[in-house]
Amino acid sequence: MYICVCNAISERQVQDAIAQGAQDLGDLQAQLGVATCCGHCADTAVEYLPGGRYAADVGTASGLTGPVEVTVLSRIAQRHVA
Ligand code: FES
Repeated sequence: MYICVCNAISERQVQDAIAQGAQDLGDLQAQLGVATCCGHCADTAVEYLPGGRYAADVGTASGLTGPVEVTVLSRIAQRHVA
């Protein structure tokens, strides 16, 4: 799942960057380029940082144990074309 559509940055990439020491949005921007275009992903990316709503998911990405939360950030409507 992509966190940053503009730069094709996945949730996994954000989680890995945080597991390796990224501590704020500036770190994520510098390391991955997340939130450096339209900026719509910034609020979501911040939620993966320590203390954020999805911070527990970082442990899963790094192989640590802990609570697992499944996150659905968006839904894309499907349209059938005849
Ligand atoms: S979605 Fe991340 S900068 Fe646009």
